[in-house]
Amino acid sequence: MSLMIGRALPLIYLAAAASFILALKWLSAVPTARRGVVVGAGGMLLAVGATLLEPTIATYRWIAVAFAVGTAIGIPMAMMPMTAVPQRTALSHAFGALAAALVGTAEYYLRAPAIGRFAMGALALEVLLGSLTVTASLMAFGKLQELLPTRPVVWRGQNVLNLSIFGLAAAAGVVLVLHPEAAWLFPPFIGLALLFGVLLILPIGGADMPTVISLLNAYAGLSAAAMGFVLDNKLLIIAGSLDGSSGLILSIIMCKAMNRSFANVLFGGFGQIQAQAAGAETRVARSAAPEDAAEILRSASRVVVVPGYGMAVAQAQHKVRELYDILTKAGVTVTFAIHPVAGRMPGHMNVLLAEANIPYDKLVEMDDANAEFPQADVALVLGANDVTNPAARSDKGSPIYGMPILDVDKSRTVLVVKRSMSPGFAGIDNPLYYLDNTLMIFGDAKAVVGEIVKALAAEGTH
Ligand code: TAP
Repeated sequence: MSLMIGRALPLIYLAAAASFILALKWLSAVPTARRGVVVGAGGMLLAVGATLLEPTIATYRWIAVAFAVGTAIGIPMAMMPMTAVPQRTALSHAFGALAAALVGTAEYYLRAPAIGRFAMGALALEVLLGSLTVTASLMAFGKLQELLPTRPVVWRGQNVLNLSIFGLAAAAGVVLVLHPEAAWLFPPFIGLALLFGVLLILPIGGADMPTVISLLNAYAGLSAAAMGFVLDNKLLIIAGSLDGSSGLILSIIMCKAMNRSFANVLFGGFGQIQAQAAGAETRVARSAAPEDAAEILRSASRVVVVPGYGMAVAQAQHKVRELYDILTKAGVTVTFAIHPVAGRMPGHMNVLLAEANIPYDKLVEMDDANAEFPQADVALVLGANDVTNPAARSDKGSPIYGMPILDVDKSRTVLVVKRSMSPGFAGIDNPLYYLDNTLMIFGDAKAVVGEIVKALAAEGTH
């Protein structure tokens, strides 16, 4: 029996690895994304199930305890709202990285000093990346959940200090690879890595956390891949590499969409200068009622809806669908302009609009949308702010200068739906609100869109 299982295990692992690859492929397109999730989760179930069949397992008692604890933590985590996905992801990385760091530590104490040099190298990498990812992810979670101050905490000589601590941790790792018997060095090695994780996140502002989380995803993946070498588990090597590379690619996409470099995200102290920039605006914004907005929309022939984080907070997507239906029935052409970093995670707007069954071919990516705005009668901005800020185009002093934006200001009329004049995630004022062609419709996005729909429906019956 155990011989049969031993032969079947590599095949099951191979099937699991193939499902992870297919899952990533299918996840990258909306029509196949659901299938991607199911196949990915199925692959993970297969991988965990197969691991439980490993003939080397002596007792299931502790595995059962871990299963119960994991389930008790995992279920409430899965219930977190969609707007909290970045911090939820940060927590998952913290747990994944903790597992890698603990396994590495256990392996060290089990196998050193007889451990081979290659395995010790992989183990050191696993523990270094795993440990720093644990504290960095917890810090990122704290900042996003606003349990910690979200602004960057910076001081003179910070980068030198941080890099020295990382250098010391890496040096300790190298010494351990050369002298695995130096067990006294192992706890300080972990301590330095944990400390570096905290220091790494301190100077980074809340606005950059999603990018950093994606980068931490890459570190956790690399740590898991290194763990695969330590345990000689090919599935871990494959899954960790997929995790690591996809995290890195996602961070690169986000940096590109914000026109920022990795170095600027990690060491730029972004989110700090904004406090002075905000409030400099003294002009007055014009506001209007939802009924006025309905009137303007009714007489339009081309409307571009620009959803942002506020639409997600208000959960306004179903009301937006009603608005879409009523306008298209009246002969208005309606499209949705999607900025790559609108909301709080990549694809955030796509997911919400898909949930409300907005036809996917009505979603237009940034470059195409920018070609549409000059011909649009109305740009309806629903809880989007930073991604529409014209200062990114013209104000060299603005912290978001150079970030590609949706040129909503080029439309004939801009209707902005938000609750107040408060800034968005980047914490800066938006000159769009003071333009002659802009009207602010203050209120919760769901309530305002609901009122617009009501007014349009009432007009339609007259
Ligand atoms: P933001 O600039 O964050 O603005 C969202 C606006 O929504 C706020 O100004 C807020 O104004 C409004 N709002 C909040 N709750 C609302 C409600 N219930 N009803 C109506 N409006 C509401 O959003 P954005 O334009 O989507 O930009 C995203 C930001 O996140 C960018 O700075 C981007 O760089 C950053 N970021 C995103 C990502 C990803 S991957 N998406 C990654 C890294 C960074 P009021 O408070 O006045 O209502």
